Amino acid sequence: MKVLITGGTGYIGSHVVVELLEQGHEVEIIDNLINSKITVLDQIEKITGKKPTFHQVDLLDQPALEEVLTNTHFDLVMHFAGLKSVAESVEQPLKYYSNNITGTINLLSVMQKTEVYNFIFSSSATVYGDQGTGECVETMPTGTGITNPYGKTKYMIEEILKDLAVANPNFNIVALRYFNPIGNHSSGLIGEDPNGIPNNLMPYIMKVAKGELKELSIFGNDYDTDDGTCLRDFIHVVDLAKGHLAAINGLKPGFTTYNLGTGMPTSVLQMVNAFEKISGKSLPHKFAERRPGDLAILYANPSKAKTELNWQTELTVEDAIKDTLTFLAQPQNNP
Ligand code: NAD
Ligand code: UD1
Repeated sequence: MKVLITGGTGYIGSHVVVELLEQGHEVEIIDNLINSKITVLDQIEKITGKKPTFHQVDLLDQPALEEVLTNTHFDLVMHFAGLKSVAESVEQPLKYYSNNITGTINLLSVMQKTEVYNFIFSSSATVYGDQGTGECVETMPTGTGITNPYGKTKYMIEEILKDLAVANPNFNIVALRYFNPIGNHSSGLIGEDPNGIPNNLMPYIMKVAKGELKELSIFGNDYDTDDGTCLRDFIHVVDLAKGHLAAINGLKPGFTTYNLGTGMPTSVLQMVNAFEKISGKSLPHKFAERRPGDLAILYANPSKAKTELNWQTELTVEDAIKDTLTFLAQPQNNP
């Protein structure tokens, strides 16, 4: 297949590009490099022996987008491009609504015009909002109690996709609801290492492990869980990437959603303990106040993806930690 990947130099997109290339698909990438580096392309080449065609295009630039889709006919678009900082989205909601929603509408409009109808979208477990306490199933209602504009863009885009699939029955649309992606390719050549102070758990742990941040604050140890800290469904990004290849088989007329998670919750404290054990070093941490908007327990029921896509996770949290340590040991990630 000829696949267009938006956001393909980013954390998850780059892992999907690797899997697609390794399965013999042809890949082109669109990214404006707002949150990724062009050097990712060289790393992808080191892993796969192939360098995907790259277009530095912003999804808000519809004519440029149209040129890419007119010059090449794609069988499928996988759409990862978007802004994803929860905290920044609270401070700058218009930036998030404009980039994520207008960007997606531009992409879908150009797809419709150039008659590309297969679409896989990066959604999030955040769409379950306050319904997502405990185990999340695709049949649960979405959209209530989402605490931030980033999360709302994911819900709103799902609604737009639903409407589009009704209006134009040519479209085959899958929204994949990711739980908490962690880890990186086992080579350590690609991965996530954000600049500044990260919001998410694993990137924060990585900065503490590197000595760039003093200690991890564990937000809340008085939740109604075994050890008092929150439970999440941490999924290895390579398993997540493979879920996208499996989802190609799930493309059918209309709008379909799948959870991509392990189904096995891990607590924040268990994660810290596992990181210490595998790295052989202590990870400075303290308990702090609960973070506003956090749910105690959130994990996937992944049965639908297993039954319909024949996909399930194979890697563990321990694998993800080992691969993270390989990534951190790369000279460019640990100057
Ligand atoms: P990322 O920031 O590493 O990758 C996103 C890429 O999109 C970046 O390379 C960025 O430069 C690009 N981009 C952003 N806006 C763009 C625009 N207007 N035009 C062109 N390119 C643009 O993020 P990621 O972690 O790889 O996430 C990929 C997708 O998955 C996002 O849509 C994100 O919301 C979603 N998601 C991520 C997580 C997670 O924990 N990482 C969880 C659920 C959903
Ligand atoms: C968050 C977002 C979600 C987004 C996802 C991936 C919220 C409410 N949800 O999910 O929309 O899709 O990131 O980008 O923000 N933790 C600490 N200390 C830290 C960081 C995190 O204790 O320094 C804890 C959190 O309280 C939480 C767990 O670790 O219990 C996971 O946090 P995080 O990695 O931010 O992911 P989510 O909150 O699950």
